[in-house]
Amino acid sequence: MGKFEGKKALITGSSRGIGKITALKFAEEGADVLIHYRRDEEAAGQTVEEIRKLGRQALLFKADLDSPEEIDAMFDYVQNEWGVLDIFIANAAATAFKDLMDIKAHHLNKTYQVVVNSTVQMVQRSVPLMEGREGRILTVSSMGSEFTLPRYANIGSAKAAMESLTRYFATELGPKGITANCLSPGVVETDSLTFYAGDRFEAFRDGVVSKTPLGRLTQPEDVSNLALFLSSSEASFITGQVIRIDGGLTINNHYPPEVAF
Ligand SMILES: NC(=O)c1ccc[n+]([C@@H]2O[C@H](COP(=O)([O-])OP(=O)(O)OC[C@H]3O[C@@H](n4cnc5c(N)ncnc54)[C@H](OP(=O)(O)O)[C@@H]3O)[C@@H](O)[C@H]2O)c1
Repeated sequence: MGKFEGKKALITGSSRGIGKITALKFAEEGADVLIHYRRDEEAAGQTVEEIRKLGRQALLFKADLDSPEEIDAMFDYVQNEWGVLDIFIANAAATAFKDLMDIKAHHLNKTYQVVVNSTVQMVQRSVPLMEGREGRILTVSSMGSEFTLPRYANIGSAKAAMESLTRYFATELGPKGITANCLSPGVVETDSLTFYAGDRFEAFRDGVVSKTPLGRLTQPEDVSNLALFLSSSEASFITGQVIRIDGGLTINNHYPPEVAF
């Protein structure tokens, strides 16, 4: 019997990348999962199929986190289908990578809606479904919340807000038996990373690896493993924490300029 048998998990942005691997790991451990995506229907469908092959239920929902109405529709669906929720992971993110001096109000508004405002709304919708179930809330940040990265100010500052929100969720929801923690991955080998780094990816990767005590990039599985641990009963007394999964990169003279791109 899996560790999460009978549990229901909603992971935003679970059609690909870190979210997908996390959804599969929860399913392997017995959880039913809602796969959420914004537009890549093929990737989402493929993930659903992989979960069903594991013998678990996979719900599928398309919602742009830029739209409070679509978010509400997703939670109405969960309420109708499951009526309960054990694990909510705010994983999806999107932004316009620009220097601060080039950022327009609409870029900021959109990133903050997708990363920050939507998280508050989704946690507000999750909590009633977690009543009496030792709920788990996880947010996903990045080292750009603490350290400056090129063209990362918009989402980096939104991630900083998310880390702070996580501590407030933990404080407010602790009396209900719900924990809230934040995963802060280092440089994770995903599509988004290759997109962000562009043709400097290899130099960037080599620079990061050379500064990482454990000598490699973060893999999506490293992040998922922590998500599963923090969602387990063994982690029931851990709340309000931001935990880095970066092989020691950020304790090693922070972020060296030679790996900037
Ligand atoms: N990759 C890294 O190196 C790294 C490092 C540190 C932290 N992180 C964080 O880890 C999380 C996952 O990152 P990732 O690289 O695996 O994937 P990602 O590219 O950040 O996110 C991909 C997922 O988010 C969905 N998504 C994007 N914009 C959305 C929107 N407006 N509304 C709803 N869904 C949306 C995508 O759906 P569609 O494909 O359908 O659009 C997809 O399922 C993010 O929070 C990211 O900031 C990543």
